[in-house]
Amino acid sequence: MAKEIETSMRDYLKAHPNLRFIFFGGKGGVGKTVSAGVTAQWLASQGKRTLLASTNPVHSLSGLLSQDVFGKHTAVTGVPNLWAYEIDTKDTIERSKVEIREKIQWFLKYADITTKAEDFVESATMNPAFEESAMFENMIDLMFKAEYEAYVFDTAPTANARRLLGMSKVYSLWVNKMLKSREEARSLRELLSFTKKKEADPLMDYLLTFRDRMEHARVLLTDEQQTAFFFVTLPEALPIAVITRFIGWFRDFGIPVGGVVVNMLIDRQQVEATSPDFVKNRLAMQDRYMDDIWEKFDGMVRAKVPLYENEVRGVTALGRMGQALFV
Ligand SMILES: Nc1ncnc2c1ncn2[C@@H]1O[C@H](COP(=O)(O)OP(=O)(O)O)[C@@H](O)[C@H]1O
Ligand SMILES: [Mg+2]
Repeated sequence: MAKEIETSMRDYLKAHPNLRFIFFGGKGGVGKTVSAGVTAQWLASQGKRTLLASTNPVHSLSGLLSQDVFGKHTAVTGVPNLWAYEIDTKDTIERSKVEIREKIQWFLKYADITTKAEDFVESATMNPAFEESAMFENMIDLMFKAEYEAYVFDTAPTANARRLLGMSKVYSLWVNKMLKSREEARSLRELLSFTKKKEADPLMDYLLTFRDRMEHARVLLTDEQQTAFFFVTLPEALPIAVITRFIGWFRDFGIPVGGVVVNMLIDRQQVEATSPDFVKNRLAMQDRYMDDIWEKFDGMVRAKVPLYENEVRGVTALGRMGQALFV
């Protein structure tokens, strides 16, 4: 175990020149949003047309950039090649509800069931996973459009990516079976109706489209040349435990783990014998957890970022943090 960075963030990106989808995951408050901002700004400075996107219900990017980037792709002031976009969660959810309602109504009509669609819509959309899924759909829409050379997503859709990839096999089997039985039912109906005209089957079209979308997403998200998930931690017990679990999941599902960013390290140079005890104790604690980090994430630490005297806000502060993240 080497107690030093072997492959830095810069080295990793250099070794993956076709990287297009970059995600940051980790516990709340560890610096995912700032790391995403710094990385997007750095990629833009390398001449890549870059989108910094958030699928997060909290308005994090507008705050980070001190600029309103809500609801539309917005050129970031003072940073050529960089756009930012905070997806409107409410709008997405409303649209998804409308779509689901249409599908349910169509299905009820198709199956000759005379129940009000509304009851089903309610139970389908009250599910807490519904919002997350809607955001995930948004994210893959952006990915498929390929309007930018690089995409940096604030906050990895950890649970969803995991669910998607874990379920995709089962899901594919299930959809294929559904398709087969619908195909059979349809030919039977056609046979019985004595007409040879093909009936429209929007539900089947939907299932097919959905299956293909998920497969496409799976292919992109598991491609090591195009995708990397980075995990941000502090030298503290809980954030380390969180990313240890995430990295385990991601490995199991074949999602490329780009590496680990350690944030908010106290600058040793500034700690003296006369410094307050809490500072000295904290530094000692960080040292202990750094030992843990080198051991647990051997060869995977990409950067060590200092704790700054102020929060990281605005493109100037992002640029400064960029010097630490991309040394
Ligand atoms: N290295 C750092 N030094 C000082 N403040 C930081 C540093 N990294 C992040 N912050 C601040 O900590 C807070 C949480 O960071 P944020 O990126 O929003 O975390 P997350 O997105 O993981 O919840 C923000 O106020 C941010 O400006
Ligand atoms: Mg955040």
